[in-house]
Amino acid sequence: MITKPKGTYDLLTTDAKLYTYICHMIEDFMNNYNYEYIRTPIFEATELFHRSVGENTDIVTKETYDFLDRGNRSNTLRPEGTAGIVRSLIENKLYGNKNECIKLFYTGTMYRYERPQSGRNREFTQFGIEAFNSNDPLIDAEVISIGYYLLESLGIEVNVAINSLGDAETRKRYTKALVEYIKPQIENLCPDCQNRLKTNPLRILDCKADADNIIIKNAPKISDYLSEASINRFRKIKAYLGLLDVDYEVNEKIVRGLDYYDENVWEYVDENGVVLGGGGRYNHLVENLGGPNIPAVGFAIGLERVMNNIKQDIDVELLKNNVDVYIMSISEEEKMYALRFAQNLRLNNIMTEINSAALSLKSQFKVADSLKAKFIIMLNENDLQKGIIKVKDTATKEIVTLDEKEIVDWLLGNI
Ligand code: HAM
Repeated sequence: MITKPKGTYDLLTTDAKLYTYICHMIEDFMNNYNYEYIRTPIFEATELFHRSVGENTDIVTKETYDFLDRGNRSNTLRPEGTAGIVRSLIENKLYGNKNECIKLFYTGTMYRYERPQSGRNREFTQFGIEAFNSNDPLIDAEVISIGYYLLESLGIEVNVAINSLGDAETRKRYTKALVEYIKPQIENLCPDCQNRLKTNPLRILDCKADADNIIIKNAPKISDYLSEASINRFRKIKAYLGLLDVDYEVNEKIVRGLDYYDENVWEYVDENGVVLGGGGRYNHLVENLGGPNIPAVGFAIGLERVMNNIKQDIDVELLKNNVDVYIMSISEEEKMYALRFAQNLRLNNIMTEINSAALSLKSQFKVADSLKAKFIIMLNENDLQKGIIKVKDTATKEIVTLDEKEIVDWLLGNI
């Protein structure tokens, strides 16, 4: 038997229903905020991720799926959505009018070669949004609030952990101070952090293994290094978040695992401490990838983690297909009538199922029951000749006889 690759999964039955429910809900939700859907390729030139996510990040050094195509080009399965969207924005010159905020949202599979565990897959799905052209802290707060309220609409309460990483100059000065502080004590940190000191020192701050290490706890704080402008900007974002009733908390350990961020970053953390999503401002990525100087901010949320969270509480029965009408038939004439009549009902938005095998009447009743059909149409050759149809209401057990011409209207009025 050929099995699925490690770290992937088949989206089946009620999970599939839950997933499509969430996607529909996202679409409606984003429409209210005037965001437009965008889809970019699942693979991109490898260089794109090196130049955006960052040469020394865990994602690029350890987790990408890279392959040479038959034309010897190096491609990479996207580990995240932002880089592809920025590439597309530049390539298609989507930035247009600089006075207008360009607001895009996406859902799609991403690929990271990570050790599979609960909430960590090699193929996973993100919902994300990206807003371009505005550097106003107001848009940061709005973007943060979108993730917060979207999760709330799905019944998930989160705390938003926010931080300011300041501008590039601040991060340079702070990183220098952090390295100077940690270097003499580096043997007391985990092997990963020993590497990070050389490659990506800021990530030492959010290391899970060293989270309680006193060295990290006493490390210099980035807030002491922020410029006046960054402090003001962060203050404004917090005020706007207060105005929008977003439950947030400043956490100086949030540094994020991607290199393109500057200024404010954040994560959505659920009541079990699971990070459902994260994002931040990235004002230099468009320019670094060859586009104009355009500010941007966005986030992504992992839909597997969202599904894990709500699966505990949601009534899966509600997500099952409950058909409106089941049409019973036995003879060939009844079956042909059922086939055509079902089409008529379906084209009138009535969810209909028919007997699609040579089932006995008893078995058909059982199928109708398991589908939780609201009505059963009991076809019968004699009735058909007279142009009448019997309909059973499965809740009241009442059977009504109707003219076949009035049945659609009757069903639409009674479903
Ligand atoms: P990220 O923090 O790398 O950010 O990923 C966002 C979310 O994707 C995570 O919080 C998590 O829920 C989900 N996720 C990440 N890796 C996995 C995995 N291996 N298995 C399951 N879920 C996972 C980004 O990707 C940025 N592009 C977000 C962003 C958009 N920043 C600005 N705009």
